[in-house]
Amino acid sequence: MLTLQSYKPQQFDLSGLTGISEQTLEMHFKLYEGYVQNTNVLTEKIAEILKDGKIDHEEMPAYSELTRRLGFEYNGMVLHEYYFGNLTRNGDSDPGRDSDFRRAAEASFGRYDIWKADFIGIGKMRGVGWAICYRDPANGRLSNHWITLHEVGNVSGFTPLLVMDVWEHAFLLDYKPAERPQYIEAFFANVDWQVVEERMRVGTRGSQKRVAST
Ligand SMILES: [Fe+2]
Repeated sequence: MLTLQSYKPQQFDLSGLTGISEQTLEMHFKLYEGYVQNTNVLTEKIAEILKDGKIDHEEMPAYSELTRRLGFEYNGMVLHEYYFGNLTRNGDSDPGRDSDFRRAAEASFGRYDIWKADFIGIGKMRGVGWAICYRDPANGRLSNHWITLHEVGNVSGFTPLLVMDVWEHAFLLDYKPAERPQYIEAFFANVDWQVVEERMRVGTRGSQKRVAST
């Protein structure tokens, strides 16, 4: 008998961040929980269609739409876990001098400040999405990417190290739409570089506590 696994929202204790209010976090956690819920609902609906082992002609339009939406919801869930997971009230604007991350950034960009200028520049790009620093597990090289919505631009197999939400909901209660640079500054003040180091080493979700449960 098939037992479908479903995801449960993670809990993040992030009160006391610099420049990102409790109000924003509360609203943002609710949005994240919506992605978890929708991922579960879509997975169940697709499983229902697949139950008899075939996709009938009349099921195909609904099946296609559900499957496309699953890419949006699934990435929305996972990226928020990376995002909340790399924030802490004891954050620091920059990684330690001897950190693996800083060394990798220097090897990939020449200098750490060039890596940071690129990441911040991507974060300021107009549009709805994310700035993400990835590590290529094949050669250890770092690269920064713009992700449109949640699912367009992720590089398959690359490891997310630092994930920054720049959808307006991430900062609109604290800043004006044109004040995204101030939000980005606040984001950096709260980065948990230990988690980033862990993601460098483990090559997976690092200290993320996301679990699938029946
Ligand atoms: Fe978000």
